[in-house]
Order: sequence, then structure tokens, then C-alpha cells
Amino acid sequence: MDSILVRGNGPLNGVIPIAGAKNACLTLMPATLLSDEPLTLTNAPRLSDIRTMTQLLQSLGAEVTSMQSGQVLAMSSHDLTNLTADYDIVRKMRASNLVLGPLLARAGQAIVSLPGGCAIGARPMDLHIAGLEALGAEIELRDGYLHARTPGRLKGAVIDQRFASVGATENIVMAATLAKGTTVLKNAAREPEIVDLVKCLRAMGAQIEGEGTATITIEGVDRLHGATHPVVTDRIELGTYMIAPAIAGGDVELLGGRRDLLGGFCDKLEEAGVHVEETARGLRVAHATGRVQPVDVKTEVFPGFPTDLQAQMMALLTTAHGTSVLEETIFENRFMHAPELMRMGGRIDVHGGHATVTGVEKLKGAPVMATDLRASVSLILAGLAAEGETLVRRVYHLDRGYERVEEKLSAVGAKIERIKGE
Ligand code: UD1
Repeated sequence: MDSILVRGNGPLNGVIPIAGAKNACLTLMPATLLSDEPLTLTNAPRLSDIRTMTQLLQSLGAEVTSMQSGQVLAMSSHDLTNLTADYDIVRKMRASNLVLGPLLARAGQAIVSLPGGCAIGARPMDLHIAGLEALGAEIELRDGYLHARTPGRLKGAVIDQRFASVGATENIVMAATLAKGTTVLKNAAREPEIVDLVKCLRAMGAQIEGEGTATITIEGVDRLHGATHPVVTDRIELGTYMIAPAIAGGDVELLGGRRDLLGGFCDKLEEAGVHVEETARGLRVAHATGRVQPVDVKTEVFPGFPTDLQAQMMALLTTAHGTSVLEETIFENRFMHAPELMRMGGRIDVHGGHATVTGVEKLKGAPVMATDLRASVSLILAGLAAEGETLVRRVYHLDRGYERVEEKLSAVGAKIERIKGE
């Protein structure tokens, strides 16, 4: 397995282009299953998770052609030849469960493996199931698979989610586009990826209102047609690279960056003393070499501070001028990066869903292990500011979510290289 070697070497300066959003693309791709006409996505990120979703869609009978080195995905689901999402694919990537709603709505049936445990928490699917059952689906669990079917067309309903789950919102919205009648989804997730999905579904002929608010209303239509849709900018990749000049010092412009995608993240970065400015091409982040101010952070659903940027923020705060408290409210087990940051000299005390981080003057490079996608990148960020060398092992997770991380960071002056594993 590959490793990444980082040498802390001072300020970063230049430009980093931000890719299309992994999480948006992973819900836009299954939307192809809703129509027998082609759906083309532009600005797609080039990531292993996208290849996994490609394999899954192909296993269902969809055609997926990757063009322009992976930035354009041309998909067609004219004939669905299989309605089962196999455990071997689903266990690699939880987002595979996003085929459930579309398959059910289009084909009246779907068999989708439960994803199983995941490093950051239990991540059940009860909200997906409850929402689809409210639309008239019959769902039972057999042999580790959800067997879902609908006698006839799904029917619109009023659904009040217990929690604003991103994935459940996506599955329910996609399924409701082809249901008979009106669906009102209350306590819907408001993340920019949901807004992007709705834009794409609307381009395919769906009638939807209220995306980006807590109530989404979907008027079911008989069929959806083809469309071409550009994937929204990846706000998590954006936030991650905004932390790079904050932790190492420097001045970096993030091409395609937008403040409105970042919710509470930008405010916290500014509170820490980092300069953030909108430019004609994106966002500019500048910070003189030196320690940031401590800030308290609580992860929340959008527009709150994103859980997917908590590990990276923790890396930044390990060198803050004082003590910060991070509270994780979305996932129950998302501090696995803390012990690794402690191997680099970070002073962190984890107690339940809270982590108290007392900033040190300088981190020290060390061999560390990546345990999940965002944890791995937080260790790279820490390495940018550490004295000496940091070797981040098991970067398999990193490649799921960050396109050419070593090239993007080298381009702004970081000393970073990939070491090929066996
Ligand atoms: C998506 C993102 C992920 C991000 C997360 C929260 C994708 C592909 N992944 O994941 O990167 O960290 O949003 O912003 O878009 N839950 C239930 N029952 C359910 C569904 C979820 O209890 O049926 C719980 C989960 O266990 C978790 C919380 O709700 O504790 C958030 O999950 P959810 O919003 O569904 O996240 P995902 O869609 O899995």
C-alpha cells in the first residue's frame, strides 16, 4: 500500500484548483438509474470511490464511460439487467446504498447489501428505510441484504425525518421524483450536495422545490429524461486545502472556492486568525507563519461546522496558541486521528464526544497510520507544519477522496511525495 512522505518546510504559496465534489458525484451517479436516457456529469473528481460507484452501476446494467481523463462521466441506464447491489462492492463504500431509492422507483425492486461497520461509527440505515417505507415500499432484511419492493408505483407522502441525514434525504428525494403524487420531506438535509442533486434532477425533468431548506417538496412525474450536469465544487477538499496555508503559513488561492459552500467552517478559520478573502477565481487564504488562535468547534449538520473537516481542524489546532475544545456530534467514533496526532507531539485529551487540544509550539514528524479518509489528510496537514519527516502509511483511504494530493500540495511548495508500496 502506498505511503505519503511529508517534510515540514515553511510557507506555501500559489494556486490549488479544487475538484468536483466526491460526495455530490456519488449521489449524482445513481440518479442515472432513474431514467432510460443518458445522464452526463462534467467536473467529476478522479477518485477511487468514483470508480467503485462506476463498477456498481455497471453491475446493474448501466453503461458508464469515463472521458477527458475522468472529468466527464457519460452514463446510460437504458436497460437494467440486475437489481442487486452486492456486498463485495457495498462494503467498500457506504455510498453504494444510494442506488436503493432510484432502483426502487424505476424498477419497483432493489436488493442492496447493508454496508456493515465503518471505522467512524455504526451508521445504520433506519432513516433510509423509514422514508422509503413511507413512500409505500416493503422492505425486509434477509441474509444481510435489504430486499425492497413496491407493489406498483411509489406513492407521495409526508415524511418527517428524526435526523437530517444526508444519505437518507438523497435516497428519498430520488425515489420521490417518480412517485405518484406529492412528497413533503421535513427535516431534510441542507448540504450543498443535496442542492446539487436537486439541480440535476430538475434538469432531468423532476419537479422539486425547497432544496437547501429543511423542507423539500417533490411532485412526482411519470418519467425523467436525459441531462448534462456539472458537479458542484468539493467543499471538503476546499476546506482541507484552506487549512494548509493556515497551518504552514503562506498565501494560497483556491480556484473554484466559494464561501457559501463552507457554512460555519470559514467563520472558525477567521476566528483562529486566518485571513480569508473572496477573489474573482475563488478564495484566497493567507496566514503569516506563526501559531493560530485557539477556537472551540462543534460539528453540526449544514450550515454548521462539517464533520468531514473536524480532523483537519484538529490538526490545525494542535499548534494553536492555547486550548481548544472540539465536539463531534455527527459520528460517535471520529477521533481516531487524535492518537496519531499525539505521536507527532499533539496534546489531545479525548473524552467521549469531546477532544481538548492544547496547542504546542511545534509538532514533530513521525511515522503515522491513516485510519479513515479525513483522518489521513489531517496527518498530512500536520506533517506540513512538523519538524522533520512525517510518513503517513496506508493512504488507501486518502485516494478515495483526494485527487492527486501530492501534486496539488507540491505545486504550492510543499515537500511531499508518494512512496509506492507493494
Ligand atoms: C454523508 C457523507 C459523509 C459525511 C456525512 C455527514 C456522502 C457519500 N457521505 O454521509 O462524508 O460525513 O454525510 O455530513 O455524502 N444515521 C442514522 N440512520 C440512518 C442514516 C444516518 O442514524 O438511516 C446517522 C449516522 O449513523 C450518522 C448520522 O446519522 O451518525 C449522519 O449520517 P448521514 O447524514 O446519513 O451521513 P451519510 O449520508 O452516511
